[in-house]
Amino acid sequence: PHTEIKRICCIGAGYVGGPTCSVIALKCPHIIVTIVDLNPARIAAWNSEDFALPIYEPGLEDVVRQTRGRNLFFSTEVDKAVQEADLIFVSVNTPTKTSGVGAGYAADLNYVESATRHIAQVATSSKIVVEKSTVPCRTASSMRTILESNSRPGCHFDILSNPEFLAEGTAIADLYNPDRVLIGALDTPEGAAACAALSSVYANWVPKERILNVGLWSSELSKLAANALLAQRISSINALSAICETTGADVREVAHAVGLDSRIGSKFLRASVGFGGSCFQKDILNLVYLSESLHLPEVAKYWRSVVDMNEWQKLRFAKTVVDNLFGTITNKRIAVLGFAFKADTGDTRESPAITLVKSFVAERAKVAVYDPQVSHDQIWMDMQSACSTPKQELSKQLTLHTDAQSTFAGASAIVVVTEWAEFASPNFDWEGAFAAMTKPAFVFDGRGIVNGARLREIGFKVVTIGRGENL
Ligand code: UDX
Ligand code: UDX
Ligand code: ADP
Repeated sequence: PHTEIKRICCIGAGYVGGPTCSVIALKCPHIIVTIVDLNPARIAAWNSEDFALPIYEPGLEDVVRQTRGRNLFFSTEVDKAVQEADLIFVSVNTPTKTSGVGAGYAADLNYVESATRHIAQVATSSKIVVEKSTVPCRTASSMRTILESNSRPGCHFDILSNPEFLAEGTAIADLYNPDRVLIGALDTPEGAAACAALSSVYANWVPKERILNVGLWSSELSKLAANALLAQRISSINALSAICETTGADVREVAHAVGLDSRIGSKFLRASVGFGGSCFQKDILNLVYLSESLHLPEVAKYWRSVVDMNEWQKLRFAKTVVDNLFGTITNKRIAVLGFAFKADTGDTRESPAITLVKSFVAERAKVAVYDPQVSHDQIWMDMQSACSTPKQELSKQLTLHTDAQSTFAGASAIVVVTEWAEFASPNFDWEGAFAAMTKPAFVFDGRGIVNGARLREIGFKVVTIGRGENL
């Protein structure tokens, strides 16, 4: 029965729902897209007159400027948007559970379940319901059961899995030009029809051969598998970075050399202070939990090691800082450049900066943080929760800055945590930094972006992740 999609509702106006549905609205002017959220402040920001959007994403503002009020709407009226829609994306948050069964591993499906129940409750006509949030395998099937057990007579729900593969910082470009769009459906005529309806939405700008139709479970597992394999590459190159540092090899040269093998590929091999972001760790832990519940402990252990390596890399880097500063950073000022989990985003979820700052604070250092995008409120929230210390107490050791230069006064070390272009720019005032710091002045580059030779000429001692030629 579903042939043409005229109205789309997206539940959840976050990092996934917001950009994805804004781009759908841009590319499909004939479809009315309404993005709803329970959080009125978030919706108000999406609707703000000066386009002070709740998330920072290059190119996003431009898309919203073109579409908002035309065929893109942001609202807190969930019921109305659900009732009017032919197709509903569920893009709510799925954090790792912090208590109960599977705490620390399993996804908290509370938000998905309540959004699903809500759809069943208020819908007055048949809908296609699309699982967009990253969720453990078999969630679609739970959603289906909830929908079927709670629907009004005459309302039929088709469920699809359509995981999103965008990366923050490049979300708009990724959405314009995706490597693939994955749509999982039940192997039934209704499933196929729903799948065709969603495919036709993407077909407005994505070449047909990149729209993949698979089974529901394959689709759900593919999302976890993609993130697990990507994260595994980073843990692999980070494990090699530790060997490089002690042998005199250069991890950039190694990554370049192995990446030329077309079976390996050159992308996503940048050694770092560790991966962060809302997806990698969460999805791997989901996979670990799934493997345990399927009685596959060896599989669980294998994937668990990817996260363990990442934790180790972050702590190893923190230890490198302390070791080089003669074994103690107590009362020393440490300037931290970057707090976001990667460049070009204001997102700090699972950012390695949190682990690093926490460990510097534990060593009783004075930590001065600058990030070009992350709000100070967000940093205070993250650090209060990571250190379990109130802001008032924390502020004796932690200061937040609105420019890089002001973090350097009297600092013993600069620690580069996020690869913002600003820190790699030839115009960055390293001379000024050096002049302001105590001597010897150290730079610890957790991203391999600074020009070590130039910094050494100025007088810095430089330690770069994965380089044997340190100091
Ligand atoms: C990731 C996936 O890339 C995306 O497909 C999925 O939809 C969501 O999860 P995201 O977390 O937004 O996207 O960013 P990504 O570019 O993958 O970076 C994740 C983390 O890995 C960042 O902390 C980044 O700095 C780090 N990273 C990435 C490295 O340390 N080295 C690399 O070579 C690449
Ligand atoms: C390997 C490297 O490919 C080569 O570059 C190096 O010089 C020597 O080691 P080789 O062992 O000859 O070459 O064969 P390869 O094709 O790499 O296969 C190795 C093993 O992996 C085989 O048992 C193969 O069956 C298995 N394999 C390979 C898989 O199980 N799955 C795959 O996708 C690929
Ligand atoms: P993601 O990175 O997956 O997009 P976010 O946390 O950025 O995650 O966004 C998820 C959004 O979903 C939040 O803004 C949250 O308020 C919203 N949300 C959660 N549950 C519901 C619900 N039942 N109805 C509407 N919005 C919801």
